Amino acid sequence: MYILPFEANYFSDAAALWTLKLKSLRRQQPMIPEAFTQPQRLIEKLEYLQAHNHLLMAVKDGQLLGYLGWYLVEQFRGTRRKAAYVPEWGHFATEDYKTAVYRVLYRIASQQWTASGCEAHAITLLADDPSVEKSFFWSGFGLIVIDAIRTLDPISTVPSDGLTIRPATPEDAEAYCQLDEEHCRHYTQPPIFMPLKQADDPQKLHQFLIKPLNRLWLALDENIPVGYMRFDAYDFDCTEIIQDENVIGINGAYVRPAYRGRHVAANLLSAGINEYRQLGFASCAVDFESINPEAADFWPRYFSPVCHSLLRIPEQLDPTGSS
Ligand SMILES: CC(C)(COP(=O)(O)OP(=O)(O)OC[C@H]1O[C@@H](n2cnc3c(N)ncnc32)[C@H](O)[C@@H]1OP(=O)(O)O)[C@@H](O)C(=O)NCCC(=O)NCCS
Repeated sequence: MYILPFEANYFSDAAALWTLKLKSLRRQQPMIPEAFTQPQRLIEKLEYLQAHNHLLMAVKDGQLLGYLGWYLVEQFRGTRRKAAYVPEWGHFATEDYKTAVYRVLYRIASQQWTASGCEAHAITLLADDPSVEKSFFWSGFGLIVIDAIRTLDPISTVPSDGLTIRPATPEDAEAYCQLDEEHCRHYTQPPIFMPLKQADDPQKLHQFLIKPLNRLWLALDENIPVGYMRFDAYDFDCTEIIQDENVIGINGAYVRPAYRGRHVAANLLSAGINEYRQLGFASCAVDFESINPEAADFWPRYFSPVCHSLLRIPEQLDPTGSS
């Protein structure tokens, strides 16, 4: 087997092999949009990586056994680290040689990543591939983010007694921004340990609310907001295979600790889902940190995973071992 810079005559093989995998996942999860099953869509993306020398291939006797491509991302996930990030469509290995192909591609790619100054390695996998997941776990990666999807069928929940559920208006800006600050602080706490994100300010909320298909659903106790769920029809930062104009994304949810376990989030989700079904959307997606215990308990009750994202922070990066 040879690992080489990707050659253009293998684009259509690569796209055909990867789209077969996506079609197989779509058979289990038909809510995944069809768009990415078109090989041309993948070829354009691979061409971009190839043009930047960020795409390797594994070949044997002229046959493509696999490929691995990446982006370089500064300040990855809000940290100081530069990362190499391999998207869900940016890798493939043929079933027969899967573990061996991934190992050798990762060995060569990670040499290049270190030479480019990367201090973190990240990859997104389709969620139905436990053998590739195991291979990366054994290489030192851990699960960090899950992208998940669901239909817009109604969910069954019980009412949150005494609370009002309604969409936010510009007048709710101050109270919402306070909640968002609490939400951002939540991620800095053990066992999550993420960097502090900038909370939304009233201007940002205004920009969000003026877009007609965006909604911020609030839960209020005596007119005081105690929880929210944000549905974004335009800028949802989910994995690419589920980005589609018919998919509504959730990009924030928070309920004050004193109100948790009273089905507040379930009622916010239910309200959003019912509205977007009526607006003609096809499905709803969310991405959440698997390292966030509250999110890991809540979302899987209602959503099915489509992608798992893994992260590795190498213990030391100097191949001579001298530092
Ligand atoms: C995640 C979060 C929004 C859930 O809010 P919530 O109002 O407590 O959730 P609900 O009461 O609607 O929970 C719905 C169901 O999930 C279960 N559930 C929710 N959180 C749970 C937890 N931490 N442990 C076990 N079960 C949990 C509830 O028991 C309920 O199940 P049931 O219908 O069988 O009774 C809330 O914990 C929170 O704000 N966490 C901090 C911020 C955060 O992690 N946001 C997620 C963003 S990705």
